[in-house]
Amino acid sequence: MLVLGIETTCDETAAAVVRLRSDGAGDILADEVMSQIAAHSPYGGVVPEIAARAHVEIIDGLVDRALRRARVGARDLDGVAAAAGPGLIGGVLVGLMTGKGVALAAGKPFIAVNHLEAHALVARLPGRLAFPYLLLLASGGHTQILAVKGVGDYERLGATMDDAIGEAFDKTAKMLGLPYPGGPAVEIAARDGDPMRFQLPRPLLGRPNADFSLSGLKTATRVAAQAIAPLRPRDVADLCASFQAAVVDVIEDRMRVGLRLFRDRVGAAQGVVIAGGVAANAAIRDAMARFCAQAGLPLVAPPQNLCTDNGAMIAWAGIERLRRGLVDNMAAPARPRWPLDPEATRSLNGKA
Ligand code: KG4
Ligand code: ZN
Repeated sequence: MLVLGIETTCDETAAAVVRLRSDGAGDILADEVMSQIAAHSPYGGVVPEIAARAHVEIIDGLVDRALRRARVGARDLDGVAAAAGPGLIGGVLVGLMTGKGVALAAGKPFIAVNHLEAHALVARLPGRLAFPYLLLLASGGHTQILAVKGVGDYERLGATMDDAIGEAFDKTAKMLGLPYPGGPAVEIAARDGDPMRFQLPRPLLGRPNADFSLSGLKTATRVAAQAIAPLRPRDVADLCASFQAAVVDVIEDRMRVGLRLFRDRVGAAQGVVIAGGVAANAAIRDAMARFCAQAGLPLVAPPQNLCTDNGAMIAWAGIERLRRGLVDNMAAPARPRWPLDPEATRSLNGKA
């Protein structure tokens, strides 16, 4: 089974070709990603109009390149998958229309993939991870703890009520004069910093639900910075280290609660998966490894190129759906908001 995957929901334009092997794992035959970081960095964040335009300009060429690198033609495909949301609507439309166009022209099934589902399932691409598992999805746009019970079967155990974790890193970086994207910049600055210098809050610590709140921590960091302005490099390092230490504590606590909820509602977990751009953070990965060791569960951290937005995860989610007969038609809509677990959403004003 051979599927083309297209991703355009945020600031990465991506196209990939993945083949399902007979042992159930996936082979990535091509994985093309074009980041728009340079176009957005003067603004310190993603500008939707700039993103949509950039996607439109390069998507055709990128799909072409992915097929060529994989040495396949559109007629060799068994299906075409595109992320149909959640995300910035202009970009989503570009990828969705491109995917539909290729599917229609080649006479292949089309699969409208939920971007969050793709993050959730890609941990299975290398093989051997069975359902159900506990997932921390942490990126610039999303922060959720999910029970992944099967394809199309997710239960949200917790989510952020305000900022996503990556967003909190990005805003903190901006405030401290560090470059965009902020996560890597904060992590690097934190290496030389003193995590004990500033006593920052750990929002929601100990709460019985697995939700997150990051905006109070971000504000407290700003207040601490303003109190000692102008900032020297040493101050920036200490602020970053203190901020990151607070995030790590919050994640460990929320995951402990998430696992408790998982065991109550779902049963035994096969493992714990970390996904999304924030998974690149070594301190956060270490914290997750500690948490998993305590819980006696394997930690599955997909390689970094599969954690950040990419086309292979869309192709893989397409394969997971297609092999179960879950296909869509040309009426599949673009969905700026598309929660994996509709039940949980009603109680939250958080992001999809
Ligand atoms: O998954 P991703 O590539 O894109 C989406 O947001 O969907 O995640 C990007 C986010 C950004 O907010 C970025 O600052 C954060 O992931 N990030 C990090 C690190 N690397 C990327 N956050 C903390 N530490 C890092 N090393
Ligand atoms: Zn993403």
